[in-house]
Amino acid sequence: MISASFLSSKNIPLTLKELNDTDVDFIHVDVMDGKYVNNKTLPFKEMRHIYKYTTKRLDVHLMVLKPSNYIKNYASLNSEYISIHLDILEDVLTNLKLIKSYGIKAGIVLNPNDEVSTIIPYLPYIDLIIVMGVIPGEGSQKFIDKTINKLKELNVLKKEYPNFKFKISIDGGINNTIVKKIKTLVDIIVSGSYITKSNDYQTQINSLR
Ligand code: DX5
Ligand code: ZN
Repeated sequence: MISASFLSSKNIPLTLKELNDTDVDFIHVDVMDGKYVNNKTLPFKEMRHIYKYTTKRLDVHLMVLKPSNYIKNYASLNSEYISIHLDILEDVLTNLKLIKSYGIKAGIVLNPNDEVSTIIPYLPYIDLIIVMGVIPGEGSQKFIDKTINKLKELNVLKKEYPNFKFKISIDGGINNTIVKKIKTLVDIIVSGSYITKSNDYQTQINSLR
């Protein structure tokens, strides 16, 4: 499945409308607080308008130090997943439970330097693991090749813990070349600039499938 990020878009309403006309599976919503990462996304009072431009389900990526300040808001949108990082200022498990309390699937995001083993305690609570292919904070960066090992480790983990049905996603630096190396290791491919900087979104999406 493909999840499209509009982080690098200069015209978010137009990008969302054009993505809605494609067969993309999810819209990946990057939320940045200016603290967990340097960049800051629009406030929720602007972001909540997403529903006016798309009927696609949302895959929300919270790059914030205090997810509990954001979860209720994003849970009120058409969200399929809300995912949080591990190195936050709040308790991870409490936030995963908060996401699930709204009936939304919960995810954990692993940064390039986070070890796969760190997610083991959370396995009973997570539906999605997003592996960052770049350092979080901005779009259009180059894919860090060593993250492919993490995807392989996660696939091993999946076999070791068959009771836990988490999906594996990759986020950052994906294009039609990189995708060939990771396709068989992931369930959901997040792609931003490769799609949104093109003038034919559907062709780009097709080339990632
Ligand atoms: C990075 C974001 C990614 C990114 C994807 O901080 O989490 O979602 O914007 O964009 P590309 O595909 O351009 O790396
Ligand atoms: Zn993201």
